[in-house]
Amino acid sequence: MIFYFSGTGNSLYAAKRLHESDGGELIDMVSALNEKRFKYSVVDGEKVGIVFPVYFYGLPTVVAEFMDRLAIESDADHFIYTVITCGGSIGKADKMIADKLKQKNLQLNSAFSIKMPSNYVIMYDVPDKEKQDLTLRDAEKQIEKIVGFLEVNKKGNFVSNRGYFAPLAPIAYKLYGTYRKTKKFYATDACTSCGLCEEMCPSKTIQLSSGKPEWINDKCSHCSACINRCPTRAIQYGNATKKRGRYVNPNVDFS
Ligand SMILES: Cc1cc2nc3c(=O)[nH]c(=O)nc-3n(C[C@H](O)[C@H](O)[C@H](O)COP(=O)(O)O)c2cc1C
Repeated sequence: MIFYFSGTGNSLYAAKRLHESDGGELIDMVSALNEKRFKYSVVDGEKVGIVFPVYFYGLPTVVAEFMDRLAIESDADHFIYTVITCGGSIGKADKMIADKLKQKNLQLNSAFSIKMPSNYVIMYDVPDKEKQDLTLRDAEKQIEKIVGFLEVNKKGNFVSNRGYFAPLAPIAYKLYGTYRKTKKFYATDACTSCGLCEEMCPSKTIQLSSGKPEWINDKCSHCSACINRCPTRAIQYGNATKKRGRYVNPNVDFS
């Protein structure tokens, strides 16, 4: 069983690759939250994966909310792992997962990180195509390594992208609350009112009230899916994103 969250496909791709080798259910945390599916039974020997992108050295709001509600019912032996995708460093996101599990008397058995192209265009430009390809090729090797470790239920912390500033993770994570505002989002005249942004928004922040998207609350997780996946590049965030590229994992089909 693998729980995943993904805005632009990196974590979805990693989750799918792990799922290919391990089988079981592949569960989108957003659908589970919307449908209030929080209780899961685990059979003897089953693995439970938690796969998501790091945000501000910590957990995306969607992941934090899902983890708070998740109930794993099991008398049997099971193995819990997390795979965190990042643009460079995960800070202490693995520890946050371990803490959330501990509150339920569950143990995180292994933790991994995978460097993938960064998607946070609100803050930085996306890497150029050549760098993206290189990073994705390295990510593939990392995924294969993780698959090998999971095949033998290897326990431990195998995070290789913690980052120099990991000790400042709690401060960085506090900034997430300040940054994930929606006032600066808008759609330009390039918007065709296709409604994809409303459909894919994991926090139901976007509504097409008058045919154009409006960001109606500050529940936004800043996943950047609306900006990156808009088919006409109509969505902007202040002036910051006008000249920046857009990123979607090229190996993922969202349909
Ligand atoms: C709001 C936000 C915050 C981010 N913070 C970090 C971070 O602290 N460290 C990092 O290495 N990457 C960070 N990133 C980059 C993503 O973690 C990375 O691109 C991830 O692979 C995206 O996964 P996805 O395609 O599954 O959404 C951030 C991205 C977003 C949208």
